[in-house]
Amino acid sequence: MSGKAPCRIGVLVSGSGTNLQAIIDRIESGEIHAEVACVISNKADAYALTRAARHGIPVVVHENHRFSKRQEYDAETVAILKSYNVDLVILAGFMRILTNVMVNAFPHAIMNIHPALLPAFPGLHAQQQALDYGVRYSGCTVHFVDTGTDTGPIIMQTVVPVEQDDTEETLSARIQKAEHQTFAAAIKLFVDGKIKVKGRKVLISP
Ligand code: GRF
Repeated sequence: MSGKAPCRIGVLVSGSGTNLQAIIDRIESGEIHAEVACVISNKADAYALTRAARHGIPVVVHENHRFSKRQEYDAETVAILKSYNVDLVILAGFMRILTNVMVNAFPHAIMNIHPALLPAFPGLHAQQQALDYGVRYSGCTVHFVDTGTDTGPIIMQTVVPVEQDDTEETLSARIQKAEHQTFAAAIKLFVDGKIKVKGRKVLISP
């Protein structure tokens, strides 16, 4: 571990927060030199909030129905993240597309995890899309976020086999195990200053 201050991570969630938990666990074990500065949810009942509170992490419920414009919602999200001095933003099951307001506020410092091997099967129900297509392998992708749907530069991917008798649930569970490892590994690379972005390519130093 370096003498540098820990990277301050803001995590955006909408749901159960197993990825958030995996990140918290790896920070607490000393594997990732970071601190979860805040967890922001657009859903008041997201279980991820309970997980965060258990670890003494500040939580903010920031619901979107009050906002008629997505950019206004994002402007307030940026203000919250800045108030916690966040260096890196993690979308851990955050079910909204970001506008340029968020993307420009944290250039190449917003990461998302997607449950497929992008550019295959972007958007919702990626696991079901993979099953319907009949692929033998799917997996997960960690990428930087731009204003498209799962289109930003790819940081890491992990391949997961698809079994003949898989359902959306069984495939999702297998992919989710890989997500927890892959997201943590990508965050560690960022925190350790090993990532550079050149156009669409993400370069990782040894
Ligand atoms: C994950 O499957 C992730 O790929 C997708 O949303 C899900 C979040 O799960 N973006 P969790 O809330 O981290 O358990």
